[in-house]
Amino acid sequence: MMKRLLITGAAGALGGECRRRCGHLAEIIRVSDIADLGPAGPNEEVVQCDLSDAAAMMELTKGCDGILHFGGKAYEGTWDVVRTSNIEGMYNLYEAARQNGIKRIFFASSIHAVGYSPVTGPVDSQMEICPDSLYGVSKAFGEALARMYYHKFGIESVCVRIASALPQPMNHRNLATWFSYDDLVSLVERVFTVPVLGCPIMYGVSGNDRKWADNSDVDFLGWKPKDNAEEHRSRIADLEDMPPSDSPDFHYIGGPFVTFGIMKDDGSQS
Ligand SMILES: NC(=O)c1ccc[n+]([C@@H]2O[C@H](COP(=O)([O-])OP(=O)(O)OC[C@H]3O[C@@H](n4cnc5c(N)ncnc54)[C@H](O)[C@@H]3O)[C@@H](O)[C@H]2O)c1
Repeated sequence: MMKRLLITGAAGALGGECRRRCGHLAEIIRVSDIADLGPAGPNEEVVQCDLSDAAAMMELTKGCDGILHFGGKAYEGTWDVVRTSNIEGMYNLYEAARQNGIKRIFFASSIHAVGYSPVTGPVDSQMEICPDSLYGVSKAFGEALARMYYHKFGIESVCVRIASALPQPMNHRNLATWFSYDDLVSLVERVFTVPVLGCPIMYGVSGNDRKWADNSDVDFLGWKPKDNAEEHRSRIADLEDMPPSDSPDFHYIGGPFVTFGIMKDDGSQS
């Protein structure tokens, strides 16, 4: 068991889920976010701060053994927002982790790092980087940074290219991309249990019949997803009409992100 596990983005959906369910992994869980986190629970420390503040990251990571890194912009945004939260923030976190002797990090990457990959067959971690958005570029940067800190300084990371982490699959695309919260938590448990992690890249996807994700590179984790979006197929048919066959949902891993322009401060795209 770790002494102290840091969860960034703990006010968000996935960080919040792990805040609720990963308390058994460490004696103390330190939860952090730029947003309000509410009061500290039992065995919790609460630190509200901004990933783009290097000094705050140095303080935040002191005394921690591992990090669950969920903080940052979780969708396409302006360059300013993506750069400060996901690029500068990622550097600040890893550099602080290095200086504070942290050895293992779970990095919430995204399938949007390879969003232009065609959905024609299994996709493994060797897929060439082909981001579909500034957000995807920031996740590709994060994976590269994690690898640099592994090779140069021995900090182990798993870069999990999360697809669609949701309580339930919500549309036809999710029949391939759903990543259940139970499967997320069981993956986190494995990442912080295996004796040797290295710095693998993998896909955060449940055991869906229609999944394109090939995680055979990380068989050594001993992680077996239990959920399958197919069990929700009839509910999804009630929720959403089948998209047209030329929809990007069925042609690219990144789905609708391939249609996005560059986002401006006023919310427009060009
Ligand atoms: N949910 C998914 O399906 C999915 C898919 C792919 C990748 N991911 C990644 O997983 C992580 C968590 O996703 P989520 O769905 O929980 O998103 P979320 O938006 O609910 O949570 C992200 C949290 O990060 C915080 N944050 C943003 N900028 C910050 C900053 N500069 N400093 C400190 N905190 C900051 C936000 O306040 C928020 O609470 C993100 O990194 C996201 O890119 C999620």
